[in-house]
Amino acid sequence: MRADPKKVIVVGGGLAGLCAAIESATQGATVVVLEKTDAPGGNSAKATSGINGCGTHMQAAQGVDDDLDRFLQDIRASGAGGISQPELTQKLACASAEAVHWLAAVTGLDLDVLCQLGGHSAPRTHRLHDSADGQPVPVGFAVMQRLQEHIAHNFRGRITVINNACATELLTAKGPERYFKGKSLRPSVIGVRFTQTLAEGGGQVREQQHAADAVILAAGGFCSDHTQRSLLAEFRPELKDVPSTNGAFATGDGLRMARDIGATLVGMDKVQLHPTGFIDPADPAAATKYLGPEALRGSGGILLTPAGERFVDELALRSDVSAAIRTLGSNYPGSNGLPFAYCLLNKPAAMQFGLAQLSYYRDRVGLFRAAASIEELAALMGVADATVLRHTLRRYSEACRDKRCATTGKSVFPCAWAADGSDGPFELAVVTPCLHYTMGGVAISGSAEVVTVNAANAVDNSSAEQDLTWQSLPIPGLYAAGEVTGGVHGANRLGGNSLLECVVFGRIAGAAASGAGG
Ligand code: SIN
Repeated sequence: MRADPKKVIVVGGGLAGLCAAIESATQGATVVVLEKTDAPGGNSAKATSGINGCGTHMQAAQGVDDDLDRFLQDIRASGAGGISQPELTQKLACASAEAVHWLAAVTGLDLDVLCQLGGHSAPRTHRLHDSADGQPVPVGFAVMQRLQEHIAHNFRGRITVINNACATELLTAKGPERYFKGKSLRPSVIGVRFTQTLAEGGGQVREQQHAADAVILAAGGFCSDHTQRSLLAEFRPELKDVPSTNGAFATGDGLRMARDIGATLVGMDKVQLHPTGFIDPADPAAATKYLGPEALRGSGGILLTPAGERFVDELALRSDVSAAIRTLGSNYPGSNGLPFAYCLLNKPAAMQFGLAQLSYYRDRVGLFRAAASIEELAALMGVADATVLRHTLRRYSEACRDKRCATTGKSVFPCAWAADGSDGPFELAVVTPCLHYTMGGVAISGSAEVVTVNAANAVDNSSAEQDLTWQSLPIPGLYAAGEVTGGVHGANRLGGNSLLECVVFGRIAGAAASGAGG
């Protein structure tokens, strides 16, 4: 007799959630995705720099020299000072090429534009060309669109996405907490309680609960958590008023629900500031900022002080670049005191980044302004003496030629800059460090099981087996992937590793939850 298909609930419709859903359904499960907003996408749809892959055929085709040891070394160096589990970082790096190939195959997207982002020792972040008809194709957005189409065409009846569905509680089996040799002491997760806002009911909110054999948390992080039980206020209160690149939905619901049933949260004080959130001159105090993709700097864009001087290696770690901007000491007018710098591209950098995408930021959302000459640039920046800018560009041009900047230590130069400013027109934006990504989250095993890590918390007092020391115990029926998890990126995530972790651990979680995981 054939067993009934497993029922899996995925909480969150970003990249990790959809990858988990696809993998679970591929393994035979029936899947429900609970998406909090009115459409899947999450912060994954905003990630415009791409996905990391080491050893991809895209790299091979472009003669990129890369290897896993270097990738792992880069991850470790960037994450130093925080919690990263070797088993998880190994999986992340080792599965990266296969993740990029899988994503390209499933979405039909080429992912063959390569960029070397900050802290990477090779070009390994994969994104997309502008389309042939000159339209921008932001990679995160395009990937999320294509995955939804893939689900609609190939998983009809097997994956159901419920929009405007906000998970509020993980349901657990009744009974005392207990364990027995290798079995968890925690009661199994058997479903999810959620509220659904009904569009056709004039915004009426309905409470519901669905039973499941397994639940996968893919609910993202807490960069926009200004709720009553705010995790930002709990773990990094001094950052709670810093603007964010995240959607307002990133309120840490998944983490709180998991903690409520005994999951361990790790690394919660590690919150990443992305150096280049755009300040919109028309609304400088906005709490949510457009993300200025790191690929702008990975394509040759440079950062300048308000006085027109370089001050940092633009391709240093995000933590270092953000710290450098925050110590510049000037605040953008009307922004409630935000520190700022200018992001400047010459024509070669703009072309590498993608002219269509740049014109989207300039002409559609007003975040870049163009200057035909150094004099015009100086006027836009309010720099009284254009010779300061001329001097800056001359020095930078020499550094590009020598492949070394003695002042900032920069050693990766994505494109050349002319000493005399003849490589305009220039594109200029105002940027400020913004809350971008929370490295902390629920502890997981290499199989994406949510675990309790602390043995003292884990042992059931009524058990005769208290003497066993457990490193970690899975909570049966509960899995997690993506930003909701902790212990992957240490203190500081590398650009491009977010989309990567979503694919790698989303698929691992999906397979494990459907009973097919190793
Ligand atoms: C970006 O495009 O700069 C953000 C993507 C990421 O954080 O990896």
